Amino acid sequence: MTEPKPGEPDSLRLFFALWPDDATRTALNHTGKWLHKHWDGRRMRADTLHLTLAFLGRTPVAQLDALITHVTAIKTSAFELSLDQPGYWKQNHIGWFGPSQPLPRLGELVTLLNAAIQQSGVAFDARPHVPHVTLLRNTGGGEPPVCEPVGWSVRDFVLVSSRAEADGVNYEVIRRWPLA
Ligand code: 2AM
Repeated sequence: MTEPKPGEPDSLRLFFALWPDDATRTALNHTGKWLHKHWDGRRMRADTLHLTLAFLGRTPVAQLDALITHVTAIKTSAFELSLDQPGYWKQNHIGWFGPSQPLPRLGELVTLLNAAIQQSGVAFDARPHVPHVTLLRNTGGGEPPVCEPVGWSVRDFVLVSSRAEADGVNYEVIRRWPLA
């Protein structure tokens, strides 16, 4: 079992995500600049852009080994996805970029991940997954501009630890799983 080392936190704020490669990150950041021109708000830093697969929230470090074991047993292959649709959520003032079409392969990965998390005994809120990359916060939204589609070759997924620090929220990829 993983025990926190002296001085280290006994829980981490965790989520699983697709983490873009450099080219995809650049393209998403470009879309963020375009959306910002239309909708204003605060752009997300390029190095933070990601697509959340499952959000765990505060998780005891002591449960990490079980979580990793169950997630490592997931067998699924790499796939392509395309994001092409800007969206706005009034309730949290988020401007995002997502798919206009259903993405069955992404849905399959989310389902497998939810099952693995449940089997590991880690408590989490398995609310329906809405695929999106948050590009803007504190935006009022508006008429959705036409955006260039962004293609994303999904070759792996990651477990990320999120920390609120003086310069904002920082993410650390703590584990990566390749897709065959
Ligand atoms: P957001 O970008 O739409 O805010 C790290 O916080 C990641 O987890 C972000 O992608 C965030 O989505 C997502 N997230 C935060 N709280 C969440 C929750 N309660 N349920 C699902 N996803 C959440």
